[in-house]
Amino acid sequence: MFAFLCKNFRRTLNQAQQSPVLRSPLGHKLQTRACVAPAAAAPLLKEDHLVVNYGGTLMHLNYVWLRDHCRSASSYNNKTNQRNIDTGSIDLDIRPDHTAVKDDNLILTWPGGQVSQYSLSWLSENSYEGKKTSTVQPRILWNSDVYNNANIAPAKWETFMSRDDELKKFLHNYILYGIAFVDNVPATVEATEAVVRRVSLIRETTYGGMWSFTSDHSRGDTAYSQLALDRHTDTSYFYEPCGIQVFHCLKHDGTGGRTLLVDGFHAAEKLRQQSPKNFELLTNVPIRHEYIENSDNHRNHMHGIGPVLNVYPWNNEVYMIRYNNYDRSVINTVPHDVVKQWYVAHRELTTVLRQPENELWVKLTPGKVIFIDNWRVMHGRESFTGLRQLCGCYLTRDDVLSAARGFNLQA
Ligand SMILES: [Fe+2]
Repeated sequence: MFAFLCKNFRRTLNQAQQSPVLRSPLGHKLQTRACVAPAAAAPLLKEDHLVVNYGGTLMHLNYVWLRDHCRSASSYNNKTNQRNIDTGSIDLDIRPDHTAVKDDNLILTWPGGQVSQYSLSWLSENSYEGKKTSTVQPRILWNSDVYNNANIAPAKWETFMSRDDELKKFLHNYILYGIAFVDNVPATVEATEAVVRRVSLIRETTYGGMWSFTSDHSRGDTAYSQLALDRHTDTSYFYEPCGIQVFHCLKHDGTGGRTLLVDGFHAAEKLRQQSPKNFELLTNVPIRHEYIENSDNHRNHMHGIGPVLNVYPWNNEVYMIRYNNYDRSVINTVPHDVVKQWYVAHRELTTVLRQPENELWVKLTPGKVIFIDNWRVMHGRESFTGLRQLCGCYLTRDDVLSAARGFNLQA
């Protein structure tokens, strides 16, 4: 069933150039920029809003909202893309004196003579009715078969560093799948940093900017050992967990140590289909994660609070997962009867996350740099022997997504 959905989703995605509105596997619309304007009927005026039928969608547009979103030069600076109008001064009972639709534009004349003009496509894209059925971040949900069968070519260091179309392709893959690779990178911290800076800014944390480590137990974290690590998201103990993680295995003289990747969004959607109530519970119960480190060189005590599944309230789209059983702290935010059900829901999600078909195992070798969406894709590793040297860093999520939008990608 899932493979069928993904196949159809990819086919739909390929039609992006022709179709103004696409649907994701969740039934959400994917916004595209090339639109053929549907005809609009005359607006219907209500007490505090007007109703516009645009392409079959009824948009309910509040008058105060319309006045606040006027894009005329006196209300909005189109050079800086900033609002000029003082929202605090708008009459909350304001109504337009005159309303018209002309050439696919809604034109309102306000008391005092101010005229506002909005393109219907802009209204459609920005109305609540448009947003509640559209996806903020497009995605292709995957298990190991889906990802492997997609045959996504990794970016190559030589072209990635010099060609913008290669960077755009890389970012597009990253957004859709939550993981992306760059191959043929020189096995040094410096070259890894150069690849990272080609994409975005490095987010400095207590681990530094670029970090490099071996299994030397130099920090108070299991990552600095040879032990296997179950799937997890990193820095769940931050109020804003790091958005992107980068790994580059610079050296490994030994066995084991493959990296495990699991698409958390795929697992969350499985849970939503199987048990909507358990899905909802995981979106509602705030959980604390904690990192306490007391060593000679490092003293840290961090905690972040948030649910396991974070969804946008207007469209129920999952945008971030906190899943780290190592760092999960005491649960004390809900009464005992809810706690039991939370464990049931958490177990169901864990069961999906642990299904072998959902596990993508990759061997990180010198030269292969992986970027992981830490809000979506869980990582882990199998135990290993010998010396294994890894370097990497966290990236600032906002800047990665901004870079993608700079290429006109939806992100
Ligand atoms: Fe980790």
